[in-house]
Amino acid sequence: MSQASNTTPRPLSASKNASGQWQVGGCDLEQLAERFGTPLYVLDRSSLERACQDYLAGLSDYPGPKEVFFASKALPVVAIDRLLHEMDLGIEASSGGELFVAITAGVPGSRIQFNGNNKSLQELKEALDHGVGRFLVDGMGELTALSELSKSYSFKPSVTLRVNPGIDAHTHDFIRTGQVDSKFGFSDDQLEEAFGFLANKDCPLDYRGLQGHIGSQIFEVEPFRLLAAFLFDKLQAAAGFGLETEELNLGGGLGISYLCEDNPPPIQAFVRKIASFVVEEAKNRALPLPRLVLEPGRSIVGTAGFTLYRVGNEKKVPGIRRYLMVDGGMPDNPRPITYGAQYLADLVSPRERGLDTERVTIAGKCCESGDILIEDAGLEACKDDLLIVWATGAYCFAMSSNYNRLPRPAMVLLENGRAELIRRRETYDDLVRAEVGI
Ligand SMILES: Cc1ncc(COP(=O)(O)O)c(C=O)c1O
Repeated sequence: MSQASNTTPRPLSASKNASGQWQVGGCDLEQLAERFGTPLYVLDRSSLERACQDYLAGLSDYPGPKEVFFASKALPVVAIDRLLHEMDLGIEASSGGELFVAITAGVPGSRIQFNGNNKSLQELKEALDHGVGRFLVDGMGELTALSELSKSYSFKPSVTLRVNPGIDAHTHDFIRTGQVDSKFGFSDDQLEEAFGFLANKDCPLDYRGLQGHIGSQIFEVEPFRLLAAFLFDKLQAAAGFGLETEELNLGGGLGISYLCEDNPPPIQAFVRKIASFVVEEAKNRALPLPRLVLEPGRSIVGTAGFTLYRVGNEKKVPGIRRYLMVDGGMPDNPRPITYGAQYLADLVSPRERGLDTERVTIAGKCCESGDILIEDAGLEACKDDLLIVWATGAYCFAMSSNYNRLPRPAMVLLENGRAELIRRRETYDDLVRAEVGI
């Protein structure tokens, strides 16, 4: 089995040059910081492409129909949706905004899946107007609303029901979504009601299948065996209503390395295993193979991305730690303060300078004591150094803010020594653009 995919926190094309400086995508990172400023979101195109190829290759042996949707919530950027769509992935959008990004990227409605647990009528209309192919419906309220709305359209929207499998995938409480006590998905009794609704011959919706998403940053494959079995149970329950389940969607969730000691399974191996669970279940139950759908986010973009920061002021707390402040922080990466997420950092140009590496803490520039990017970074770093925080491709820009009115960083895509600006740095004017009467 190929071990091609990236299981380290650094992008595939990251390497040190002869002078020991980090470079990525054949680009000099000092020059990049000079040209685009810092903080800077950076993406390695080869890592993005490899992740897509690995998902598709992992599914290639699955004998039934199959499809991969990029969960664009991980990195909702027009150029990224466009690139991943060109790589043959569909786009999963979870809000009108993410839908708009996908539409702006030129993704046709037939290749968009619309998720979300509280889509507004306006958002549902926007999706219908764009001819969105699939609606991942989260509850009865949405099912009835979509059904009403769709009467004014000439096509039958296709509906996949999100079910709540109640599987504990051993991940962080805040990002686990599959427990019984979850705001997501149909519970068992509601599912029966939904089946009854969709089985009605006058229902203007086309029942397509079932989806379960059990969490994020998952390293174990076993929870997906449980998920496949659970979905097949529900598929059989749907059959009791005369509904044919054409598609099973096992969500996203594969984890990535944030630290060197993290050991996620390679994408291809993980996907093959999941596909084998589906094949096994279908065989054991003598059922036809469904279309197998996956909707990964983090594992497509996570380690393709990193952030460059410039070190500014420093503060020593004698006997305790040395704070190094960088020119970004919680607004461009809210994951440490939100989830206690940990990251690996390197200096772009590491040098021996006899500096103390004990308890070096990388802090952001915001008015929150918790605005700490990395505790104990172990770096021989000081003012003006250029710092790389690896594996920031997923859920950093996506969850970013303008706290303390910090403009969001620019974003560049690297390939073969070239850097393409795909999102310019926000300006102070951008910060007040929505304000009125000024
Ligand atoms: C419904 C759904 N699908 C897919 C994903 C993507 O998950 P991940 O980024 O862990 O692959 C999420 C993330 O929360 C989700 O809620």
